Amino acid sequence: MIGVVGLGYWGPNLARNFAELGRLGWLCDRDEALLGSVAGRYPGTRATTSFDELLAADDVEAVVIATPVPTHHELAKQALLAGKHVLVEKPPAMRAPEIDELVDLAAERDLVLMPGHLLLYHPAVRKLKELIVAGELGDVLCVYGNRQNLGIVRTNENALWSLGVHDLSVILYLLDEEPSEAVAHGRDFLTDGVEDVVFCYLRFPSGKIAHMHLSWLDPHKMRKLTVVGREKMAVFDDMELERKVTVYEKAPWKRTDSYGEWQTRSGDIWIPKVPTDEPLKLECQEFLRLIAGEGDRRKVAEDGARVVRALDKLTESLHG
Ligand SMILES: NC(=O)c1ccc[n+]([C@@H]2O[C@H](COP(=O)([O-])OP(=O)(O)OC[C@H]3O[C@@H](n4cnc5c(N)ncnc54)[C@H](O)[C@@H]3O)[C@@H](O)[C@H]2O)c1
Repeated sequence: MIGVVGLGYWGPNLARNFAELGRLGWLCDRDEALLGSVAGRYPGTRATTSFDELLAADDVEAVVIATPVPTHHELAKQALLAGKHVLVEKPPAMRAPEIDELVDLAAERDLVLMPGHLLLYHPAVRKLKELIVAGELGDVLCVYGNRQNLGIVRTNENALWSLGVHDLSVILYLLDEEPSEAVAHGRDFLTDGVEDVVFCYLRFPSGKIAHMHLSWLDPHKMRKLTVVGREKMAVFDDMELERKVTVYEKAPWKRTDSYGEWQTRSGDIWIPKVPTDEPLKLECQEFLRLIAGEGDRRKVAEDGARVVRALDKLTESLHG
């Protein structure tokens, strides 16, 4: 059975999905009132305020951690040491050495260590990946993400950590490379020490580049990712209801009779069908598949580490 720890804002969504999948066994939060109110929805599940009690339970095969970010490393480490598979909310750790330690622990014990990068299970992101892998876009040259809005103004986490983790996980998943260069610039306009506007630049060993604009101080609500290929370009716009992904047959090309000058070519614009499955359900199903021995659990853990390492570099650059 699965035990979910942390039942604040996000944890109940994970609990609901595992309950719907018939695998929710335990709930844990150190806030007794909160625990009682969530546990009331799932008769038959056990509830505890003690993480140690959860880890000691023989019927708990895996732990899902939805507590605040600074606690992730320690709780995930304890769970792995107790022999439990772990799904830990994003980001799974705050510093590169912490995630490397978790990856090593999981590998030594052959346990699943899966970060909760929700967007990786979004059918539109899967579609982008499919287009890239099939060579539909040609060589990918650059990717850029826009995650902007006016608010919610956060005071405990900057825009890079609050918003950027999503785009970073997607960019690294799409390009399947670790950046050799990661630079971030930003400013803390509203709360001292908490950057609300952040611009990030990433360069990859293959020469591809990426950019992220992250802000809660912006007139536009944007949740957009653009992939520029040599043959075609694709955009994932999460603000759209039906046109999540748009593919543009736009590209530069050299006409043979134009003395080597670059021309541009504009063809059709098409909208591939993208399923409407709930990404969180797909994420939970993937966790259960990994536990069952399907898929590549080591790659999932390594990919999670790649995101934390890049986040670590960007954070150093932002504050450097
Ligand atoms: N994937 C997504 O889209 C998404 C969205 C929102 C939040 N999150 C992630 O979910 C995590 C939780 O965020 P939140 O907004 O729900 O936080 P929250 O503060 O609302 O809830 C955290 C809960 O954890 C409990 N807790 C803390 N330490 C504990 C411990 N040692 N043992 C038991 N309970 C403990 C707290 O009592 C609290 O109820 C964060 O990592 C956040 O990044 C992910």
